[in-house]
Amino acid sequence: MPSSPSSWRPSSPPSKERIQALVDWAFYGGWYDYRRVINGVSRGLNQALDVTQLVEVLVNGVNATMQLRDAALFLAESDGSLTLRGSVGFKEEITSAQVKGDGTLVRFLRSNAEPIETPRLRQALEDDLSAEERALLACDEVRLWLPLVSKEELQGVLLLGARLADELFDAEDHRILGTLAQQAALAAENVRLVEELRHRLAESEEAHQRLLCGREEERKRLARELHDRVVQDLIRLCHQLGTCQGLWKGSPVNERLEATRGEMLRLLDELRRICNDLRPPTLDVFGLDSAIRSHVEAFSTQWSGTIDLDLAKHDKDLPEEVAISLFRVCQEALANVARHAEATRVQIRLSLSLDEVELSIQDDGQGFVVPSRLGLFAKDGRFGLLGMEEQIELVGGRLQVISQSGEGTEIKTQVPLAISRATCSGLAHTQPKVMR
Ligand SMILES: Nc1ncnc2c1ncn2[C@@H]1O[C@H](COP(=O)(O)OP(=O)(O)OP(=O)(O)O)[C@@H](O)[C@H]1O
Ligand SMILES: [Mg+2]
Repeated sequence: MPSSPSSWRPSSPPSKERIQALVDWAFYGGWYDYRRVINGVSRGLNQALDVTQLVEVLVNGVNATMQLRDAALFLAESDGSLTLRGSVGFKEEITSAQVKGDGTLVRFLRSNAEPIETPRLRQALEDDLSAEERALLACDEVRLWLPLVSKEELQGVLLLGARLADELFDAEDHRILGTLAQQAALAAENVRLVEELRHRLAESEEAHQRLLCGREEERKRLARELHDRVVQDLIRLCHQLGTCQGLWKGSPVNERLEATRGEMLRLLDELRRICNDLRPPTLDVFGLDSAIRSHVEAFSTQWSGTIDLDLAKHDKDLPEEVAISLFRVCQEALANVARHAEATRVQIRLSLSLDEVELSIQDDGQGFVVPSRLGLFAKDGRFGLLGMEEQIELVGGRLQVISQSGEGTEIKTQVPLAISRATCSGLAHTQPKVMR
């Protein structure tokens, strides 16, 4: 692009290029080299991946290159209506304009994908305009309309105001702008698709996060229901059976009652274990370190190795969702040790600083080759490590799996406390703290 006279500095010796640039600017107003203009704007359009970049190239770029007083970009929404996405210069009437997707103006611009001057557009659309369309067309500051049409769909429209030097748009300008509009339409379509994709990704990410948060809530609710109803009812029935046994002392019925009571007590233990798995009560009452300690105790009854605990004492309260996520990591990591590691020793470390909590579970087992993404395990129906990662990411933390064949495995998680509070409070509505 030729430079404007403002870049001219008389104090430095004028180079040949600078003199040429000044001449170009003075004679052609910066719009003289068709190919250079198109190439420059095309490059910008090719790189535009969001609306801000598109506005920068089409509104600010074209406005500056063509030396216009004003420019505005309207982009099509999914219902075809046009919304203003960026403008320079224009007054209020433009910036507050709303154009319906099924209206005469949009239909006309879609089927006439050529730059068109305002008087001609007014002539063509005399009748059948809505009040908003009429108001937009009545705006005298708008001199030229550039419909951006791709695949027979109106992707947007670029409105150009008068040139600073008040020259009219000539046939060459129309030709250049027509070519530019075709490229801009493709870029606008791409930006719309990328925006849609981003929006869908964000939506599915949020739905997934809600699902994860909801799963924990559901487990908690189930544990409470089981404990408060089924377990309590079973305890009551056991008492009643005990009373009956007293009445049938010495009778063979008593033996049957005893066997039934034994069976019920076994069932009670099993239910308590399920409740504990669903929601370890120690976590809510005594905090994460106690919950890990009691889980390790239960785990040690089924696993013969040694478990070293280094669970830092702390006075700080952890957000509930962080505590439960770290607990789930510990549960799954120990389950993996028992199933896969062939380890003899495990070390569990929990440390907490002012702004971060860190948990590490390290075994001295056979290790494994960690894939580039834990999601790759999912296609073989292995979800443990991936689930841990998702759970930790949900509270804004990071999970690392450090392992090599023959070198043992370490699962390391770090959760920044400020972020985790912000992240989950937007998702789960009840956020009582787990106090220590
Ligand atoms: N501590 C470990 N030591 C050795 N290999 C491990 C260890 N932890 C995980 N692995 C390996 O990583 C794989 C994936 O673990 P992941 O927990 O995701 O799935 P899984 O345990 O096989 O199944 P599940 O979905 O029931 O958890 C395991 O199959 C195992 O090969
Ligand atoms: Mg597993």
